[in-house]
Amino acid sequence: MANKYKAPRGTYDILPAESYKWQYVESIFCETAKIFNYQKIVTPIFEQTEVFERSVGDSSDIVQKEMYRFVDRKGRNFALRPEGTAPVVRSYVENNLNLSGGNTKLYYLGPMFRYDRPQKGRYRQFYQYGIENIGSDNPFIDAEVIAFGYAFLTKLGLKNFELEINSIGCSNCSRDYDDALVKYFLPNLDKLCTDCKERIDKNPKRLLDCKVPSCREIAKNAPSMLEYLDEECRTHFEEVKSYLKQMNIPFKVNPKIVRGLDYYNKTAFEFLDNNLGAQNALIGGGRYNGLVEQFGGKDTPGIGFAGGFERLMLSMENEGLSFGEFPRPDVFLVMIGESAKSTAAALLNELRSNQIKAEYNSDKDSLKAQMKAADKENARYTLLLGEDEIAANSIVIKEMKSGEQQIIGRENLIDFLQNRLKIK
Ligand code: HAM
Repeated sequence: MANKYKAPRGTYDILPAESYKWQYVESIFCETAKIFNYQKIVTPIFEQTEVFERSVGDSSDIVQKEMYRFVDRKGRNFALRPEGTAPVVRSYVENNLNLSGGNTKLYYLGPMFRYDRPQKGRYRQFYQYGIENIGSDNPFIDAEVIAFGYAFLTKLGLKNFELEINSIGCSNCSRDYDDALVKYFLPNLDKLCTDCKERIDKNPKRLLDCKVPSCREIAKNAPSMLEYLDEECRTHFEEVKSYLKQMNIPFKVNPKIVRGLDYYNKTAFEFLDNNLGAQNALIGGGRYNGLVEQFGGKDTPGIGFAGGFERLMLSMENEGLSFGEFPRPDVFLVMIGESAKSTAAALLNELRSNQIKAEYNSDKDSLKAQMKAADKENARYTLLLGEDEIAANSIVIKEMKSGEQQIIGRENLIDFLQNRLKIK
């Protein structure tokens, strides 16, 4: 019978041949979080639509075109989360996470949803890792957040990525800059794409990161935000750069980074892999001072980043990096005869409760078929249990790689394996 159903467009299944790679990348991310002392937070995958409309912004592509919206049975408006920052800030305010004072350092992992045209590295359900550092406007924190991203990518072994940073200023400096941009772009209005024609009123900075070639050409000589920064934002940016230099983190200033979400101000940054093609942003992040207040909390600054697993794994594959080993059993238990089966059930339990990864095949009776299965599973050792072994309270153990085989007493089996497998 042909299959009736397919995963929805822009989504995919993570199958065993891939899932162990994901677990590896996740574990490196969690390890990095531990070293930087970030704590895990898990928020729902849907929120009141307003959580995103207010923060990510009405004029952003995400809110305008990409949100999966639904109305529940009581007529309430919800959206599948398109990103993680707004939910984390909602939770921060709702749960008074700032009670202990100081910075709140959070990390998260999970699926996000955006209705966009699927392409290489862009999906409708994709998986993000991210961090948020809420509580301080100190440029030291900006540098730490960037350093976290750098440490994570470096730990994975990636080399071909670049860090680009910018300051998009605060609302104070933005006003003059927006005016300057409108003045610059207006004479070319008819050459801009439809989206940019709309953006010019709502959010002129977005014209700087339009991907349409004709818009890019016009944006090339647009005035730079950096010339419009007020004293405070300029000093802040200088200090971030200086900390990055002290940490030996290479970066390039790119005044065209504006980020597509409305909550950003001051520092904005991206880690890019230019071998990835159009979807080249591995990580995107920035400051969002004022967002906590928008959610009804005390005025509290914050900064963070997020990245997509899919692109990261593509980059790793391009660079030929290791994802750890496909998991394989330590031992494969071959059981010959009915009485062996009943002893085998207890033995499997004992092996597993002693941290020994154990596999078997109870549907094949012959020695040959079970040995073949052991090979297929790539087990390190095969244990052979037949009538003779049961009678002698012993077991045959064969190391698959060397072919070396010996008989040992049942009472010594666990110790023997734990020593060989370096468990304990
Ligand atoms: P973003 O730039 O919208 O920022 O997304 C961050 C990263 O998520 C991107 O750089 C990319 O790696 C990945 N990504 C985004 N959309 C897709 C997609 N459709 N398919 C696959 N990967 C995708 C944010 O989401 C902010 N919340 C980041 C942040 C955290 N800023 C401050 N704190």
